[in-house]
Amino acid sequence: MRLDKYLSDMGCGTRSEIKKNIRAGRVTVDEKTIRDAGFSVQEEEEIRYLGELVRYEEFSYYMMNKPQGVISASEDRKMKTVIDLIDEEHRRKDLFPVGRLDRDTEGLLLITNDGQLAHRLLSPKKHVDKEYFAKVRGCVNDEDVKRFKEGVTIDGEYTCLPAELTILESGETSEVRVIIREGKFHQIKKMFEALGKEVLFLKRLRMGSLVLDPALPPGGYRRLTEEEVGEL
Ligand code: URA
Repeated sequence: MRLDKYLSDMGCGTRSEIKKNIRAGRVTVDEKTIRDAGFSVQEEEEIRYLGELVRYEEFSYYMMNKPQGVISASEDRKMKTVIDLIDEEHRRKDLFPVGRLDRDTEGLLLITNDGQLAHRLLSPKKHVDKEYFAKVRGCVNDEDVKRFKEGVTIDGEYTCLPAELTILESGETSEVRVIIREGKFHQIKKMFEALGKEVLFLKRLRMGSLVLDPALPPGGYRRLTEEEVGEL
């Protein structure tokens, strides 16, 4: 692979910044300064950019605690995206969020460049669990739990797969946990709407085996551990 492509794929900066630094003699390959951006490199060589070792990583995996107000997309002309929240040093060009959370939904979002994993997690046939915490206007009751279990009809036509609803607090506003096994557009909001209730706050806590790290503040992210990647 070309040296400039290698460094850009590993998120070292824009192609033009990288080329400038290569020309300026700030990049070494096996301890030799290389000033040619098109120089051919191999994964096993020791490549240093501004003195830092840059290891080759085919796939990158990050968990983000998505904050409200940003969209789950890779780029957008007007709005801030979750990829804009990734530091430049980690922001390789092929990163994308796995699935979508609404702009006003918070919580767990997997960000990766591993298309096959994303496909498996999102495939409607796989029924991967997605667990949410929600605050809902209205008194959530046992009848609602039963309706979720039987499958709520949304948009007047689609009957959702059985979902688990757990009441944490019930009152004028209620707090609940919900587990769904599919990912229709605005699904949880629509499920409550079908029961005459309104979701006021929604946060995803888990997707399959991947649990949101409670130490991550909104907008924070971290690499997945090898164990987390293996389990996914
Ligand atoms: N259900 C919703 O209504 N919104 C989300 O962002 C995720 C699930």
